[in-house]
Amino acid sequence: MSRIYINEVAPRDGLQIEATFVPTQNKIAWIDRLATTGLAKIEATSFTSPKAIPSLSDATDVMQGIQRHPSVIYTALVPNLKGCQRALECDVNEINLVMSASDSHSQANLRMTPEQSLAQFAEIVTYVQGSGVFINASLSTTFGCPFEGRVDEARVFSLIEKLLQIGVQGITLCDTTGVANPAQVKHLCQSAVARWPQVPFTLHFHNTRGMGLANALAAWEAGILHFDASLGGLGGCPYAPGATGNVCSEDLVHMFEQMGVDTGVDLDALLAISEVLPDLVGHDTPGHVIKAGKADRRYPIPT
Ligand code: COA
Ligand code: ZN
Repeated sequence: MSRIYINEVAPRDGLQIEATFVPTQNKIAWIDRLATTGLAKIEATSFTSPKAIPSLSDATDVMQGIQRHPSVIYTALVPNLKGCQRALECDVNEINLVMSASDSHSQANLRMTPEQSLAQFAEIVTYVQGSGVFINASLSTTFGCPFEGRVDEARVFSLIEKLLQIGVQGITLCDTTGVANPAQVKHLCQSAVARWPQVPFTLHFHNTRGMGLANALAAWEAGILHFDASLGGLGGCPYAPGATGNVCSEDLVHMFEQMGVDTGVDLDALLAISEVLPDLVGHDTPGHVIKAGKADRRYPIPT
């Protein structure tokens, strides 16, 4: 049986767009519960400017408050050197650097150009090297930008090349506003895997236009084994107009398990956490399996 690896991003991507602040203790208890479900990785928070992302202004308290499950990699989003220093003080296993493939989203989200992001990353790699902390980089708007439209594959590959030259070890390709389609995803992923077979690529999809699971399937068929996903389908970038939730973790796990692909995740345990997610965030969530039940659900025959 083949195996895929899931990074649960709801505590970061999911909460960053929530209008209501989730109390720190609730975040900690939630992350600790998620850690018991077999998820390979959890993106627990982001060390961004508290003015930019107020809902995650408690990053240090969250990171220091959670219990470390031995089989989980704990990562956190980092936009600059200051964020990296804050993250390392909290003993993260991985930092997830973030930059944009498009200039306009880069300015809107990070107030810097992609070139300035790369320059900061070079400093960060020097700072982190030797600490044992894994360095991943997420490339926002890989498949399209809400301001500029389609991003050329050549530009994406040139940025991947630069990130690898700097010393970044893993790369996440992000469809920030859910504009990617499966044909585009398959082509880009096949080319990336063929060109850099040694690099662990992760794919990060948003389900804004209902293409999230189809895109994940296309990426898997192209050889991708690592996926970001968000419990309940929460998520979205507050600086990308029209952004909505990530591909839903339990729907993604359900699809792959139904196909006979091992996710390492206990789906029933994940569903049980998703069931109480509306209590945490104060609203309904867009996942499907939580409402419909698993595909092997059976109803009594009508009499
Ligand atoms: N953590 C905490 N505070 C930070 C910080 C960080 N990583 N980076 C900067 N700051 C603080 C500075 O210390 C400064 O504080 P002060 O006003 O008290 O002096 C203030 O923020 C402004 O610093 P500056 O370097 O000018 O940053 P900026 O205002 O240009 O913002 C970013 C740049 C990258 C820090 C900010 O845009 C950001 O955090 N973006 C993240 C967006 C995001 O996470 N989007 C969703 C994920 S894709
Ligand atoms: Zn996202």
